[in-house]
Amino acid sequence: MAPEFRGKVALVTGVGRVGQIGQAVARGLGAAGAKLVIVDVNAPALQDRAQELTAGGIAVRAVAGDLTTPDTARRAVAAAKEGFGGLDVVVNVAGGLLHYGSALDLQPEQLERELAVNIKTAFFVSQAAIPALLERGGGAIVNFASVAVLKPQSQMASYIAAKAAVAGLTRALAREFRDGGVRVNAVAPGTMRTADNLAQMKDAKVRWVELDDLVAAVLYLASDAARAVTGEILPVAGDV
Ligand SMILES: NC(=O)c1ccc[n+]([C@@H]2O[C@H](COP(=O)([O-])OP(=O)(O)OC[C@H]3O[C@@H](n4cnc5c(N)ncnc54)[C@H](O)[C@@H]3O)[C@@H](O)[C@H]2O)c1
Repeated sequence: MAPEFRGKVALVTGVGRVGQIGQAVARGLGAAGAKLVIVDVNAPALQDRAQELTAGGIAVRAVAGDLTTPDTARRAVAAAKEGFGGLDVVVNVAGGLLHYGSALDLQPEQLERELAVNIKTAFFVSQAAIPALLERGGGAIVNFASVAVLKPQSQMASYIAAKAAVAGLTRALAREFRDGGVRVNAVAPGTMRTADNLAQMKDAKVRWVELDDLVAAVLYLASDAARAVTGEILPVAGDV
C-alpha cells in the first residue's frame, strides 16, 4: 500500500531544479496528500516549482533562502505553522557534490563550503523543525547521505566527509528525540537518473537509480509504516 500523507505537512529543502531529486520528492509527497513547504536558495526556480505543484492541486508555501545559516530554516518552519498549522515531516534534500578531485588539492574554503552545504543545511533545518514536530507528538525527518559514505569512491573526500556527518547527525538526533516520537533516518542514494547526471555522464557506463525508486524509499521512511525504524541509513543504490 502506498504511504498516505493526507492531513500531514511536509517541509522539503532543495526543491529548485527541474529533473533533480528535490522536485521528485516534493511531487511524491504532494501526490500522496501532504501539504508542502518547499525551500531553495534559488528563488526564481523555487517559484516555478511552487507554481507547478499548485497547478497540480497541491497546497504549497515557498520559502527562498540560504540554509547554511539558521534564518531560512526558521522562516520555513514558521511558514508551516502559520500556513498549515504545524509540521509533521522534514526531508533535507538540499546539498550536493561540489568538489571532485584529489583530497590533496582541496582548498580550506572549498572544504568549508562543501561541509556547510551538506551538513549545516540539515543541522539548521532539524534544529528549527524538531520543536514543531514535538508539538505534534512526533514526526519524521529524512536526511540525504550518499552511498559513497558506505562504499567510498575516489576523488570525493570532502563530499564523503560531509555526508558521513549527515549520517552521524541522523543517528544522533534519532537517539536524542526518540522518546518524543521524532524518527530520524537517511537515504544513501547511488547515482541517480537526474537531468544533471544524465547530461554529465552520458557516455559513461552507469548503474542508474530511478528517481521514483528513491522517492518511494523517502516516502516509506517519512510515513507511519516506518514507525519502528529510526537512526537508519538506507542505501538506495541497486548495489551491494
Ligand atoms: N544526484 C545524485 O546522484 C545523488 C546521489 C547521492 C546523493 N545525492 C544527494 O541528494 C541531494 C539532491 O541531489 P541533486 O542531484 O538533486 O542536487 P541538486 O544540486 O540538483 O539540488 C540541490 C538543490 O539544493 C539547493 N541548495 C543547495 N545549497 C543550498 C543552500 N545552502 N540553501 C538552500 N538550498 C540549497 C540547490 O539550489 C538545488 O536546487 C543532495 O543532498 C545530494 O548530495 C545525490
